[in-house]
Amino acid sequence: MDARPNSPEARDISYHMHGYTNARKHEEAGPLVIEKGDGIYVEDLAGNRYIEAMAGLWSVAVGFSEKRLVDAAVRQMSKLPYYHDFGSKSHSPLIDLAEKLVQMAPVSMSKAYFTNSGSEANDTAMKMIRYRSNALGQPARKKIISRNRGYHGVTIAAASLTGLPNIHISFDLPIANVLHTSTPHHWREALPGESEEQFSSRLADDLEKLILAEGPETIAAF
Ligand SMILES: Cc1ncc(COP(=O)(O)O)c(C=O)c1O
Repeated sequence: MDARPNSPEARDISYHMHGYTNARKHEEAGPLVIEKGDGIYVEDLAGNRYIEAMAGLWSVAVGFSEKRLVDAAVRQMSKLPYYHDFGSKSHSPLIDLAEKLVQMAPVSMSKAYFTNSGSEANDTAMKMIRYRSNALGQPARKKIISRNRGYHGVTIAAASLTGLPNIHISFDLPIANVLHTSTPHHWREALPGESEEQFSSRLADDLEKLILAEGPETIAAF
């Protein structure tokens, strides 16, 4: 790490709070500052090149610095850099993408709803589930069952769905009406000698027991 007080690393330590990072350790070790990307590679400030096997946080599906994306972004930023869809507003790229997503969806879907992140998408799904129960006149049907060890995001609601203790402690999570059930991970969770089929049946049984214990009329989603 470049320890000079005005280095990018030192300024990151001074001014930037990181997600999913041990803040105390970060003060000593500093950040890995990525300067550029090309295809599957990224390069840090010191010129070290890495294969970015996670595509960032799974969000660079077509690779870094893809010229078609750069050109499309420049074209759109020059024409209409931003618009929203509240109050029946729309715009052509949104309509094109919504149509494409609905046509591509592996199960029958009628509409696309756009959000800014996976966490917000899950929060929105939870809101829609509540809306649906209220609209159907079933206000008690609000519980959502999620999986232990599952990852669903970082916001209050999405982090509640996430089934990882470290994401819950210190944040008073999960919120009410979020329940967790067993993890479908045979290698880690199977009992000695339990076959994959027996394991699957046991987990289905766990889920059914939870639904019956909570009251099926209170379960909105799994
Ligand atoms: C399965 C899953 N759900 C939700 C999220 C949260 O998405 P975001 O980080 O865009 O909020 C992630 C992110 O990694 C994810 O992998």
